[in-house]
Amino acid sequence: MDLSLTEEQQALVGMVREFANREVRPLAAELDREAKFPKQLVERMAELGLLGIEVPPEYDGSGLDPLSYVLAMEEVSTACASTGVIMSVNNSLVCDPLVKFANDEQKQEWLAPLARGDKLGCFMLSEPNAGSDAAAQKTRAVRDGDSYVINGVKNWITNGPQADTGILLCMTEPEKGHRGITAFVIDMHAEGVERGPKDDKLGIRGSHTCQIFFTDHRVPMSQRLGEEGHGFKVAMATLDCGRIGIAAQALGIGRAAFEAAAEYANDRKTFGKRIIDHQAIAFMLADMEVELEAARMLTYRAANLKQKGVRHTKASAMAKLYASEMANKVAKNAIQVFGGNGYVTEYPVERHFRDAKITEIYEGTSEIQRIVIASSLVRR
Ligand code: CAA
Repeated sequence: MDLSLTEEQQALVGMVREFANREVRPLAAELDREAKFPKQLVERMAELGLLGIEVPPEYDGSGLDPLSYVLAMEEVSTACASTGVIMSVNNSLVCDPLVKFANDEQKQEWLAPLARGDKLGCFMLSEPNAGSDAAAQKTRAVRDGDSYVINGVKNWITNGPQADTGILLCMTEPEKGHRGITAFVIDMHAEGVERGPKDDKLGIRGSHTCQIFFTDHRVPMSQRLGEEGHGFKVAMATLDCGRIGIAAQALGIGRAAFEAAAEYANDRKTFGKRIIDHQAIAFMLADMEVELEAARMLTYRAANLKQKGVRHTKASAMAKLYASEMANKVAKNAIQVFGGNGYVTEYPVERHFRDAKITEIYEGTSEIQRIVIASSLVRR
C-alpha cells in the first residue's frame, strides 16, 4: 500500500487543518459545555465541500476518494469530535448509500442537496430494541397501493433534531427476518415524522441525537431505496463505510489527546525536571504515538480497499475496533499525564476522554466489530 499522499490530498489536509484550527477548535469547549449544535460550522463545512466529499461532482459533491474523506474527518475531529460526527453521518451514512443504491432521479432530488450541504442527513436504523441486533426491526412499512405507510420508533438518531433528509430501515415483511427489511429515503419535515427531545449525553455533546417517531407516515414508491427486502444489505454496506469514518473520528480524538499530553509533559515540572524527562511519562507518550499510528494505518488500509472497490467489511471493522479502543486508551493516559489538571474542564483532555467513549459504541459496538472480524475465521 502506497502511504504517500497525493498533492491534492496534501492540499486538502492543509485546508481542513486551517479551518479546524481557526474556526472549529476555538468553539469546541463551548459546544461541549452548552451542548450546542454548531450550525455555523456545518454551514462552513458545506462551503468547503466537506459534507459530500466522495459524492461525484455531477451530484454536487467534491468527487474525492475515501482516503481524502478519512484525512478530512481526522482533522475536523481533532478540533471537535462533535463536529466530526455531524460531518461523518452526512457523508458516510446518508450520501454514501444514496450514491450506491439510489437511481438517477433519487440522486438528483435527494443526494445533490445533501452533498451541497443545503440539507443535513440522518440514518435511522437503531430502535429501542434493535441496537446491536439490527435485524430485529419493529418499525413497519405497509404497502398501500403505490405508497407505503410507516409506523414505529427510531432511537439515538445522530443529527435527528436538525435533519432534513433521512435514510430509514424498516420491516416490510416481518416473517422474512433480515430479508424483510427495506430502505427508504425520508423527508424529515413531512407529516407523520416527529422528533423527541434531544438526548443528554456524556460526550460529543455538540452533536445532537433524539428519537424519531413515525405515525402513519406515507411515502411514495419513488422514495424506496433499492429493492424491497434488500434493506439489511443497504444498512450493512453503509456501515462498512461508516465505520471507516468513525475510525477517522477516533484518530482525531486520539491525536488531540496525545498532542495535548505531549505539550503538557514538555512544560510541567516535577522533582526539578520536566515530566517528559521522567521515563514513566516518556514511555506512556511513546506508546500513545505508536498506537495512534497503528490505528491510522488500519484506517488508511480500509479506505484503500474501498477505493479499489473490494469488499472491506472486515478491514473497516478492524480499523473501527482498533482506532476506537486506541482513542479511549490514549485519552485515559492523557488525563494521567495531566494529573489533577486532567480532571478539570479548564484543560481539554477530560472532553477527549468523554468524547472517545462513543466511538466504541456507535456504528457497531466493539463486541459487534469482533463478531464481524471473527466470523471470517469460522470454518463453514
Ligand atoms: N455487506 C453486505 N451484506 C452483508 C454484510 C455487509 N457488510 N454483512 C452481512 N450481510 C448480509 C449477509 O451476507 C447475509 O445475507 P443473506 O441474507 O444473503 O444470507 C445477511 O446480511 C445477514 O447477515 P448476518 O447473518 O451476518 O446478520 P446478523 O443478523 O447476524 O447481524 C451483525 C450481523 C454484524 C451483528 C449486524 O447486525 C450489525 O452490524 N449490528 C450492529 C448494528 C450497528 O452497527 N448499528 C449502528 C447504528 S447506526 C449508528 O450508530 C449511527 C450513529 O449514530 C452515528
